Amino acid sequence: MIKFTVTSTKGGVGKTTLTANLGALLADMGLRVLLIDADVQPSLSKYFPLAASRPAAGLTEVIVRGEVTEACITATMYQNLDIVVSDDPEGNLPHWLLNRIDRGFRLRFALQSPVVLDAYDCVLIDTQGAIGPLQDAAVLAADILISPITPEMLSAREFKDGTMELLDRLEPGSALGATLGPMKAVIYRQDRTTDARIIASGIRDDFIKFKGRVSVLDTVVPHAKAYKEAATLRIPVHRHERKREGVTPSASTVMHQLAWELIPSLQGVLADSMYNRQRIA
Ligand SMILES: Nc1ncnc2c1ncn2[C@@H]1O[C@H](COP(=O)(O)OP(=O)(O)O)[C@@H](O)[C@H]1O
Ligand SMILES: [Mg+2]
Repeated sequence: MIKFTVTSTKGGVGKTTLTANLGALLADMGLRVLLIDADVQPSLSKYFPLAASRPAAGLTEVIVRGEVTEACITATMYQNLDIVVSDDPEGNLPHWLLNRIDRGFRLRFALQSPVVLDAYDCVLIDTQGAIGPLQDAAVLAADILISPITPEMLSAREFKDGTMELLDRLEPGSALGATLGPMKAVIYRQDRTTDARIIASGIRDDFIKFKGRVSVLDTVVPHAKAYKEAATLRIPVHRHERKREGVTPSASTVMHQLAWELIPSLQGVLADSMYNRQRIA
């Protein structure tokens, strides 16, 4: 099982969109995927239609019990794709966590539950664009951190400062004492006026300071209306835009490249082959 946390100290960069669509693509590739909405504003929880009319218990139960049980998991309408919904509209959970000595490990340990280990190949955690105990717990729960970064100098600088602070704070040997996974930055919402290569090389240069802990993925997610349209339709973007004319690659192409880069053993696996198998079966 592999666990990803999508994180950024900035809001509105595309975390939820990326989490939802990557999760749905991996599910369509045949992996059993568990999404976890660790944002107190439940955008991921509302992203895809749920199979049940009411969600099960959610993140509060997971964090407070320190365990994931079947009662905390809700199926989405899509096969292989389940979710632990965010159910903390008042934002009590961060306060609760703050008083726990094991706050950094709480989610990490909860994900060791048999229900998760037996039933899922991949866990994807969405976080809020801010700093706090819930974000720390989500970051420390991951094998790999994914961080979308929009290619403007200002956000690149913010990314650098925010990431540096995050890595410093959660560094092994810190008060929380867990190992941080490597961080993969994804140049996200690239438009035709900015040159991702210049930004990417700038980020890479800066990241020498990060002692190889942060790398920039080759896959660049363009700014494209397909992502918004798919969100409105509540369908995975790789299903919404399979093919596209012109220079910008289709959302399906981009999301496949991203999945292959993040999980190299999936190289060449297509979501479509999965549908086809299902249709034949
Ligand atoms: N690749 C993209 N191109 C254009 N707009 C996008 C793209 N990805 C996401 N968006 C839009 O950007 C906004 C913020 O995205 P969201 O995923 O909610 O960010 P976050 O979770 O980091 O706050 C949403 O309106 C979303 O539809
Ligand atoms: Mg979000």
